[in-house]
Amino acid sequence: MAITEPSQATSLEAVLQTIRPAVRAEHPYLVGGTDTPVKLNQNESPFDLPADLKAELLDAFARVDFNRYPTEQPDRLRHALADALACDPEGLLIGNGSNELTYTLGLVLIDPGTPVVLPRPMFSLYEKVVRLFDGALTPVPPRPDLRFDTEGLLAAVRAVRPALVVLTTPNNPTGLAMTPAEVEAVVAEAAPGFVVVDEAYVEFNEAGSVQPLLEAYPNLLVMRTFSKAYGLAGLRIGYLMGHPAVIREFGKSRLPFMVDRLAEMTACALLARPALIRERVAAMRAARQELEAMLAAMEGVEVVPSQTNFVLFRTLVEPALLMARLAEQGVLVRNMGGYPELKGYLRVNAGTPAENKAFRAALESALQKPVTAPDASPSS
Ligand SMILES: Cc1ncc(COP(=O)(O)O)c(C=O)c1O
Repeated sequence: MAITEPSQATSLEAVLQTIRPAVRAEHPYLVGGTDTPVKLNQNESPFDLPADLKAELLDAFARVDFNRYPTEQPDRLRHALADALACDPEGLLIGNGSNELTYTLGLVLIDPGTPVVLPRPMFSLYEKVVRLFDGALTPVPPRPDLRFDTEGLLAAVRAVRPALVVLTTPNNPTGLAMTPAEVEAVVAEAAPGFVVVDEAYVEFNEAGSVQPLLEAYPNLLVMRTFSKAYGLAGLRIGYLMGHPAVIREFGKSRLPFMVDRLAEMTACALLARPALIRERVAAMRAARQELEAMLAAMEGVEVVPSQTNFVLFRTLVEPALLMARLAEQGVLVRNMGGYPELKGYLRVNAGTPAENKAFRAALESALQKPVTAPDASPSS
């Protein structure tokens, strides 16, 4: 029996109205498709850990006391990373994936109305963080060929003096990169405002990292992840590199225990195997190059050159229809049409040779069919 009559109880709508409008206006981040046989939609590595390493780790996990907290910050991993990156461990902040660290950027840098400059199109989470923290976003559109408009970025920085600029280079979803000189120009112009360079795909970028700029620019932060080249998307490790004094301040906003022991141990094991990562990066790069060449050779297919493990492309077929035709053959790619600049584009990541072959066969067969569905009206 209800203790209080429903009429007297607070209405659900009144309860929901106490939630911040910035949160209520959002949509949940949903990707889906985890059961698809050929899954090429999330820029993951196609390689799981080698079976012997997995067995070794599982054996070690069995000796971990699951009832005990990890250390507040993953210090073993921090030191192993500092060795691998030849940097000061105090200049590293490790998070539960780099996505999680984007909330730290919001907490530390964005008050209501704080100016933030972001190029478009970019990984959607950054715009979401700006909205959630009620920042004042200045988006900078790309050039017609989808490359970063560096002049446009510099002009926006001069105009609004942002506390934060984020440059994802190489960029998701385009696959295009800025040169280190372009990044440096933005970092210099934005100072003392922060510039975060998201290097999720750095291992695939011929131009390499902007890490050397950290020496000269305390307003620069470099963000990286173990989810792509290292193949640990399922275990959630990402990190920020910056000046130790800056990282110390950012660390004050952090929740303790964000990185669990299993993820920390696995990341340390991979850092101890640089040859394995090099080999896998080389395989993923080669697979991406093959995808680019294969798509470029197809009639009516336009390909954006990539410095990542994925390729952005468009065909004459309506993207939702193409996605459906690929899905019929068990192949999942990503429709990028949600970005106004990327109407008609799809994104596919490099998979194993067998997955790439399946994608190729599915695409070839999909492109042989009419470019619109038989019952589609001309205006749809
Ligand atoms: C640019 C960019 N940053 C970050 C991430 C996510 O990284 P993590 O898995 O470390 O949260 C992605 C994943 O697709 C990405 O494309």
